[in-house]
Amino acid sequence: MDLERALGLIAEVPDFPEPGVLFRDLSPLFADADGFAAVIDALAATVDPGTDVLAAVEARGFLLAAAVGYARAMGVVLVRKPGKLPSVAGRVDYALEYGTATLELPSGVVRPGQRAVVVDDVLATGGTVAAACELLENAGATVTGVSVVMELAALDGRSALSGRKVSSLLVT
Ligand code: PRP
Ligand code: HPA
Repeated sequence: MDLERALGLIAEVPDFPEPGVLFRDLSPLFADADGFAAVIDALAATVDPGTDVLAAVEARGFLLAAAVGYARAMGVVLVRKPGKLPSVAGRVDYALEYGTATLELPSGVVRPGQRAVVVDDVLATGGTVAAACELLENAGATVTGVSVVMELAALDGRSALSGRKVSSLLVT
């Protein structure tokens, strides 16, 4: 399947999770074997040679980074929602399009000097990916790129990531 058709599988759901928000639901894309493969191939191609590790944002970022990591023979660092990790290297609180959130990085996983690419499904306000970058950099890694399936341009996530290389398969 070509990438454009694959991205066309993303559904738009009005008023979720609250009135006024147009939610992009990637579930139909993830559930389609050919569509999922097309998106993973395209995301894998955004990861520069020389990248040491992928950093995946819970939850949908895990799915994508796991497949890209396998395709590119790279490991995946799990950037997690709070309360999941037995030992935490760092924690960052941040604002979301709707509400607030916290992310945590596991201890002893990121090595200083590693070059990391952050993988997630949607870049909206950029708060989530910016928090992931902050966690990785506090642990001594260098974030060399951010790769997402979809960027919601109206929410201007790139401002939160100024100076970073951001690769989006779809900007809407
Ligand atoms: C969603 C999405 C991104 C984030 C984007 O995560 O997967 O991680 O919001 O928003 P931002 O750019 O405004 O920060 P969410 O935690 O809602 O969902 P998930 O656990 O289903 O992946
Ligand atoms: N879809 C999925 N995740 C999101 C969205 C969306 O529209 N906005 C912020 N995170």
